[in-house]
Order: sequence, then structure tokens, then C-alpha cells
Amino acid sequence: MKKLYRNMRLFTPADGGRPLCGAEQANVKEIENASMLISDGIIERIGTDGEVTEGLSCSCISFEKDLKGACVIPGFVDPHTHMCFAKSREEEFGMRLAGLPYLEILARGGGILSSVNAVKKADDEQLFEATKKNVLAALSKGTTTVEIKSGYGLETKTELRMLEVIKRVGKETPADVVATFMGAHAVPLEWKKKADSFTDEILIKEMLPQIKAQGIAEFCDVFCEEGVFSVDQSRRLLKAALSLGFRIKVHADEVNDLGGAGLAAELHATSAEHLLAASEENLKAMGASGTVAVLLPATAFSLKKPYARGRDIVDWGVPVAIATDCNPGSCFCESMPFVFSLAVMNMDMTVNEALTAATLNAAYAINRADKTGSLERGKQADFVVLDGETPTVLAYHAGSTSVSEVYKLGERVA
Ligand code: NIG
Ligand code: FE
Repeated sequence: MKKLYRNMRLFTPADGGRPLCGAEQANVKEIENASMLISDGIIERIGTDGEVTEGLSCSCISFEKDLKGACVIPGFVDPHTHMCFAKSREEEFGMRLAGLPYLEILARGGGILSSVNAVKKADDEQLFEATKKNVLAALSKGTTTVEIKSGYGLETKTELRMLEVIKRVGKETPADVVATFMGAHAVPLEWKKKADSFTDEILIKEMLPQIKAQGIAEFCDVFCEEGVFSVDQSRRLLKAALSLGFRIKVHADEVNDLGGAGLAAELHATSAEHLLAASEENLKAMGASGTVAVLLPATAFSLKKPYARGRDIVDWGVPVAIATDCNPGSCFCESMPFVFSLAVMNMDMTVNEALTAATLNAAYAINRADKTGSLERGKQADFVVLDGETPTVLAYHAGSTSVSEVYKLGERVA
């Protein structure tokens, strides 16, 4: 049996088989009086009401809904989060407000390392409940597909445990969850002066093969940053991950321009993230390699840093996606509508560019564009009904999510 949604004002990027870049990033189709016919959660027909209902017999429709001219966009895809954590770091936020730099807190054994302690102390059920809470909060704000990284274990047992929890959250919530292994999120205290050995002996020889064997992560990511993992260490890890069949991502040039963006281009990474300090040359190299730039403006907001050069990065022909980076340290935010508004207001992207960044290009950044990211025949019926006339409302109505309903596979989930 099929579902029919009628009378919407539809806005969607059009998938041409690769992430949209340059001027194409703003190519958003608008269809007035649109309808969508859904069969088993998948879009069977979409277009003007006339196109969709032509020759359709009402006996095959089990459910029909009039959306009364409401504005509909694809469900948001959040391609970069650290939502699997046990405990907030509100106290540390106070330290940052008082002027202590983020990397300094980490160097003193706090930051990511304090989240590692909390995850080690939590049992599976607690970690599951905390992660589920974050995913449901994101879902209520329109996120229908989300990537979640491990990386608060930093030892094989706990990294595996996190990835199991992430997988379970994908099964037990309506959201689609994509898992990324990020054992290279920080250097554990006991390996402090031995980051090379931690990379080669633990990450490459021990963790990667075990995680591959369990089949519970699709991507491998690394925090390539001063005082964390160098470009050489990152390159060794990512090459090993590629040879085992992982797809790769890089936390690149978040605070310092180490050349992480250049490394992502060199290795044809699926995406490189942050890029606040990345050089023009390396960003352009990413464009040439088809690597998606995942920009995280809520992190710049929360760290009180200058934003990544979103406007320039689009103009340089690099496909741009946006994500929350939701984590307990640098950015506790699960709201794609907030990130959308920052992309428009503080990175000078247009509304259409931001829409592509939060949907189709974000889906490409996590290898899910075959299923979601745009509202087109053959893709999942993952969509959001907005409380406004056009997607502009996401930036215009400050402080509101402007999301009135969320649908996953054609079912209302929030
Ligand atoms: O993307 N940069 C590294 N990782 C996260 C922060 C994680 C944390 O502070 O717990 C980020 O900003
Ligand atoms: Fe991150």
C-alpha cells in the first residue's frame, strides 16, 4: 500500500550523482502544489500534483494527507557528530568563557580526555540512553540521518563498546545512523610522549583490524591538529584504514593550519571537516579531489573563533556541507536549523547553498546520497515540514527551529 502527501511547496536540491559545487551548490528546485507518492518508505513519484496523481487508482492508496501548502524540504543530514558521550562538560565551558583555550584544557588532561573517563565509567545502558537522547533531540529538529563518531574510548575495548552503542541507537530510533571510528581523537595520557607508537601499535595494528572484523564502522576519522596527531601520523593511519576498506574523513585545520586539508585532498578523503584555518591552496586541492568540506559553524560560535570561509570555499568550487559537530566540549549543539542560520548569517552562504549543504552534500559526506539528501524518485521519503513560506525561514526566524513536523520513510516521527 502507498501513501500520498499532497499540496506542499517543495524545495529540494537535485542529485546529479556527485556533490554539488560552485554555482551548482545553489541549484534548488522549487515545485508549487507538489505531491509525493510513497511506497514502503521510498519515493515512487514526486512532482506537481498533476504529474503524481495521473492514472493513479485510489484503491492502492492507504493513507493520504493534505499538507495545506506547507513548505517541505529534505530531512537534514548531520554528517559530523560526537553524540555518543556519557556526561556534559559544562564546567569546562565556564573555563573557556574565562579565557582558557580549548587545546590548553586538553593538554592539561581535560577536554576530550575527561569525556574518555566518563565513557569508561558509564555502563552500556547509560551510554545508550545518553546517546539516544541526543539523537532524538536532533530528530525533533529535523535531522533524519546522522553520523556519530567513536573516540571517547581511545582503547580497543571502549572504542568497540561505543561503536556497538552507536549501532544500537541506529536500530532503536527512527534516525539512520552512520558510524565512524575515531580512535585517533586524542592521545591518551599514558601515551602522551609516544603518539607515534600509539598510532602504529594501537590504532593501526590493534584497533583498525578489530573494528573492521566487527563490521561496525564505515568511516575512519582522525583529529589532525597541533598537540594531537601530526600530518604524518594521520597519513599512516588513514592509508591503513583505506587499505582495509574504510572510507576516510579528517578533522583538518580546526585550530592551526597543519595541512590536514591538503592531506584529505591527497588521499581523496570523502570529507574534511572544520577547516577554520585551512589554506586557500589546500582547500582548492580538496575541490579538485572531490572531497566534501564539512563546515561546523556552531563550533566556531561556541569556541568564539572566526568562522570558516564558507563563501570563498563555495566560490572556489569545493562542495560544502554543514554539520553540528554535536559534542560535550567544543560545541554542544544538535540543531541543524541553528547551524543553517549560522551558515547564512556568519559564513555568507545563500539560503539555497545552505540547504544543499545541510541535505544533499551532507549525504555525500557520509556516503548516503543514494538513499537520502534530496526528495527524488527512488530515495527515502525523509522530509521536514517548515513553519514558514520558504527555507529562508530557517535563517530569518532567529532562535526558532522553524521545524513543525519531521517524517522518516514517509512516517511522521516528530
Ligand atoms: O570536532 N576536534 C575534535 N573533536 C571535537 C571536539 C570533541 C570534544 O571536545 O569532546 C570537535 O570539535
Ligand atoms: Fe568533530
